[in-house]
Amino acid sequence: VNVDFMKIKDNDTDNYCIMPKKFVDTCLDRIKNFEVFEDDTWIVTYPKCGTTWTQEMVWMILNNLNYEQAMKEDLYKRSPFLEWAGIINNFDMDFVDICQKLSRPRLIKSHLPLFLLPDQLWTVKPKIIYVARNPKDVAVSFYHHHCHLHAYKGTKEDFFEAFAKDLTLYYPFNSHVLEFWKIRNNSNILFLFYEDMKKDLENEVKKTMEFLGKKYSQDEIEKLCKHLSFDSMKQNKMINKNDEIRMLKEAAGEKYSEEEFSFIRKGQVGAYKSEMSAEQNQMLDDYCNDPKFKEFDFAYKF
Ligand code: A3P
Repeated sequence: VNVDFMKIKDNDTDNYCIMPKKFVDTCLDRIKNFEVFEDDTWIVTYPKCGTTWTQEMVWMILNNLNYEQAMKEDLYKRSPFLEWAGIINNFDMDFVDICQKLSRPRLIKSHLPLFLLPDQLWTVKPKIIYVARNPKDVAVSFYHHHCHLHAYKGTKEDFFEAFAKDLTLYYPFNSHVLEFWKIRNNSNILFLFYEDMKKDLENEVKKTMEFLGKKYSQDEIEKLCKHLSFDSMKQNKMINKNDEIRMLKEAAGEKYSEEEFSFIRKGQVGAYKSEMSAEQNQMLDDYCNDPKFKEFDFAYKF
């Protein structure tokens, strides 16, 4: 991947995060000092954990199921990605500023670990929704993402090994999840799992509605679940990111074909089974069974 990375350390704990130098130069301080409002909603995830799915669900719930607007305005405008420009070469739209000036109530997406998020999140305490997904499916999903969106030219084996050794963008994964798991019982935090959304989306929609203080009829909820289904999202040009991918690829002088890669890709739990050797599977199993999880009663879902 053609990017310079840096290891950013947390002064207060032994946490760290690996981020592009561009992020450090252009976003880090501005994000730490970012102004937060009480009526914000934040969606925080490690990449590939179901962020886009959750963004659409939450935006719809917050905006009185406004299908008309949702079908004419791209999701990345309705719910912008705070540090986006800091992680992509050849892309300089100032998303920190766009997020800052977004009309309220804002819905902001970030993949940053807890210690790199704005300080005011912990004093102003807006609603924060965190979504976790099992690392094996994330590793597979992130591998395809890197091949198509970050010009990764290495092997799948090397990628999985780097994943299990916490060696690339936004890593380490386990502490990203655990830091939010530890605060999951705070009243402004909702902790969701991708696997629960796959198993019973209606239930997770209802849980999220309650958290956001919104009420809809059973018919409205069923209609929303159809709108959020994999097939519907894959077709939906306001969500499927095909146009954004085309724009970024063309800026980098590359071609994009929707047949080759689609951001709304497989959408399965257990997709790793057909993509990993027994050895890679074992390596990632070891990663999933991080000894520090026991102390906090945490386990990934499969
Ligand atoms: P796969 O690559 O495993 O298919 P993120 O938005 O955090 O980058 O996550 C992307 C992952 O969420 C992709 O996983 C994508 O297919 C999946 N996804 C997006 N919308 C989905 C939906 N409606 N149902 C199930 N999975 C979905």
